Amino acid sequence: MAMAELSTPKTTSPFLNSSSRLRLSSKLHLSNHFRHLLLPPLHTTTPNSKISCSVSQNQAPVAVQENGLVKTKKECYGVFCLTYDLKAEEETRSWKKLINIAVSGAAGMISNHLLFKLASGEVFGPDQPIALKLLGSERSIQALEGVAMELEDSLFPLLREVDIGTDPNEVFQDVEWAILIGAKPRGPGMERADLLDINGQIFAEQGKALNKAASPNVKVLVVGNPCNTNALICLKNAPNIPAKNFHALTRLDENRAKCQLALKAGVFYDKVSNMTIWGNHSTTQVPDFLNARINGLPVKEVITDHKWLEEGFTESVQKRGGLLIQKWGRSSAASTAVSIVDAIKSLVTPTPEGDWFSTGVYTDGNPYGIEEGLVFSMPCRSKGDGDYELVKDVEIDDYLRQRIAKSEAELLAEKRCVAHLTGEGIAYCDLGPVDTMLPGEV
Ligand code: LMR
Repeated sequence: MAMAELSTPKTTSPFLNSSSRLRLSSKLHLSNHFRHLLLPPLHTTTPNSKISCSVSQNQAPVAVQENGLVKTKKECYGVFCLTYDLKAEEETRSWKKLINIAVSGAAGMISNHLLFKLASGEVFGPDQPIALKLLGSERSIQALEGVAMELEDSLFPLLREVDIGTDPNEVFQDVEWAILIGAKPRGPGMERADLLDINGQIFAEQGKALNKAASPNVKVLVVGNPCNTNALICLKNAPNIPAKNFHALTRLDENRAKCQLALKAGVFYDKVSNMTIWGNHSTTQVPDFLNARINGLPVKEVITDHKWLEEGFTESVQKRGGLLIQKWGRSSAASTAVSIVDAIKSLVTPTPEGDWFSTGVYTDGNPYGIEEGLVFSMPCRSKGDGDYELVKDVEIDDYLRQRIAKSEAELLAEKRCVAHLTGEGIAYCDLGPVDTMLPGEV
């Protein structure tokens, strides 16, 4: 969804000045990649070894070495190195096992809203301790420190670790969830093909890193645009992780659609259910008013202005991101973070009876005749175990079919354009006479 996450605040390179070194060495534990940039080596050891803090109560973190090798332990930020043993305290004894959550673009605006929601327990529940693994760009390392400091100062009981780094191979170690937000925004005069290529390379690299380092059943939510095709690239580069575990965020579009329908019907938005977004997170997306319901009734019975549904409503959802940029001067951030929370909660809590949610998923054996091998937004349900099933009996009329086909054609064109990144041969970029748009590009 919203981008610009890689272009976090510019810093003049602070890494070589000695006062930074001092501060960092006493407080901050960075991934090895950065340690090499910042600090003189602590000792000599085999290449690729990691230097980590050891964790014990009331003791400053130290590098530890075992059997002549540096022991690989989690790196941690400041206060998160100190209290670790959840079983030692009455209050935390009944908590679940700690889960590792990676967030890329962690110094960006969306993350700045999201991380505090994750840490508060709002997403995974009040008995689920978490470790946050924050991935940023080299330019954003200072800002990442700032994020980590604010997380420290927030005293979230459930937040047990914060690690920051710039190497996905290290940051993604053992993660059970990866929320991939960081992506390059489309610059002036940049072709969409260039955007696909630049971001595709980021997501190919991250897919490889997830494949190598993450938990084998990691769930991956791709937010950075163009999120459907980025998710496809990511999953193709992670053959050991089930393709079903990858999602592209279209929940923001679902939320926007519910809001527009509620406004028109004069009801509060909690009365709108069964909202599907079909297709791509772009201006070809199809918000499905045929199957959505208001107060349990078909939308078309409640809103009789069908012309508005086909034109005004559809376009308002497709272009909402762009309108927001006009108002704000930047992409949506807070509502995107909220929709990430919604998307994850939809996977970790059972879907209410009769309802569903939208998420971009791999079209492997879908019942709607959508071309296989795309990441396409569809209606899904979950038992709350992190997994989902497609809803299989949603009605598609001619209007929907035509619109869905357009979004499908767009995604197929994007896929051909990134074939060099998905291992499917030579890329061929023909994105059509009208350049396709992200919602924020209108
Ligand atoms: C949004 O839908 O708000 C964003 O994806 C817009 C954008 O292009 O950054």
